[in-house]
Amino acid sequence: FDVPHPRNEPVLSYAPGSKERAVLKRALEDARSKVLDIPMYIGGDEVRTGNTRPLTPPHDHKHLLANFHEGDATHVEQAINAAMGAKALWSELSWEYRASIFLRAADLLAGPYRPVINAATMLGQSKNAYQAEIDSACELIDFLRFNVYFMTEIYREQPASSPGVWNRMEYRPLEGFTFALTPFNFTAIAGNLPTCMAMMGNTVVWKPAYTQIYAANVIMQVLKEAGLPDGVINLIYADGPTVGNIIFNHRDFGGLHFTGSTAVFQGMWKTIGQNIHKYKSYPRIVGETGGKDFIMVHKSANAKEVSTAISRGAFEFQGQKCSAASRCYIPSNLWEDVKKYLLEDLKTFKMGGTEDFGNFVNAVIDEKAFNSITGYIEKARQNPLNEIIAGGKSDKSKGYFIEPTVIVSKDPLSITMCEEIFGPVITIYVYHEENFEQTLELVDSTSPYALTGSIFSKDRYAIELATKKLTNSAGNFYINDKPTGAVVGQQPFGGARGSGTNDKAGAKVNLLRWTSLRTIKETF
Ligand code: ALA
Repeated sequence: FDVPHPRNEPVLSYAPGSKERAVLKRALEDARSKVLDIPMYIGGDEVRTGNTRPLTPPHDHKHLLANFHEGDATHVEQAINAAMGAKALWSELSWEYRASIFLRAADLLAGPYRPVINAATMLGQSKNAYQAEIDSACELIDFLRFNVYFMTEIYREQPASSPGVWNRMEYRPLEGFTFALTPFNFTAIAGNLPTCMAMMGNTVVWKPAYTQIYAANVIMQVLKEAGLPDGVINLIYADGPTVGNIIFNHRDFGGLHFTGSTAVFQGMWKTIGQNIHKYKSYPRIVGETGGKDFIMVHKSANAKEVSTAISRGAFEFQGQKCSAASRCYIPSNLWEDVKKYLLEDLKTFKMGGTEDFGNFVNAVIDEKAFNSITGYIEKARQNPLNEIIAGGKSDKSKGYFIEPTVIVSKDPLSITMCEEIFGPVITIYVYHEENFEQTLELVDSTSPYALTGSIFSKDRYAIELATKKLTNSAGNFYINDKPTGAVVGQQPFGGARGSGTNDKAGAKVNLLRWTSLRTIKETF
């Protein structure tokens, strides 16, 4: 009844001259040399509507990577019917059968598909090679292997019985079909959301963000090659309101697995609430949404460690992570040193396309994001209580490039200290070193979110105080580390408050949401 206890997939280094770098370069050249025609996948069929839209790299928007076929309401209906049609067979297959498909998918990603999915993530989402490796290879592989393991742990748990009575627990999938809505910023999340629902015997309609379709297409190919039966996961591209209108009005809607913005999540929750009388069962709703993640520093901290945490935590993947550090509280005794190290570090960051492995900073995802982020930088510039000490410039002529930007604000409640920006911008507030406790209160009360946060300190008492005072301020709390980069199986990921339902991606608790238990008592 056991599958092997998974170990985290080792991260390849892509060092200059390495074989893996050469293989990845070839995969990038191969991807750039053709224009893909990307269909939807409904009931195992490739569906081409003829209504195509282009996909271009965010860092090179004149280069055509692919055209995808956009669907409409008919295709949403077809995807639901395909999911409902595949349900009986899929949910009655043994768990070993289901497990074997996802374990094989993980092996395909670890082997032949690794350069393919990494190249797709680098070109489609503008992640550099190292970030793509961590996301689309390692984290996705880990999600698949660890979730299979968690699934078996869940199925193993059975209630006690007594003489003459045999009690058992049946782990049924949710009634009806489920819906996965995935964001552009992590290929791993795109793979995780539909597969952990499917693993538990559910069938799925999956809609990725349009800016993620290029990598989503590879995930679907991997799942098909791994033996996923037709109709279990149906991948569709249609506009959000059209999809939502059909799915959330459907009697058989059984559950939503979402990662994306707080506003979209709250909108969907409201619609589901209004339609609650239409459904057979209360739908399960799981969402991981926004963040305004903090780095809080005590006067005893090491300035160099703090500056590294800021530059990596705020600027990796251009800050387009729900977990990215975006507000920082530094005691006055450390500020000059932190500033010096940070400015030195930022000077080494090269910006440009992902095909050049020397570039640390790439482009933000699209024009909408570019306009929103640069709008925040302009607002910050106009506030006399702010000073932009690094970055602040942007250019969208070739790709959507924004310099890593550091704002120092004398107002701890200024706009960029409080609102989620989702880009390469961090705002720093320098507090008087003796006001540690009051500043902890500020950290807790400044934002409606509670996703990730860090405390940097060499003083154990300060660490304990921060851990206690910030109990509800972050679902992932880091001591002397940056607030990003949760590893599957090691740091289950998710937050509460405005950041979501805190059903921890990469943990047993998440898979438990996708099963509806039946208790059976038999007497002899
Ligand atoms: N799970 C991702 C991180 O921890 C978002 O950075």
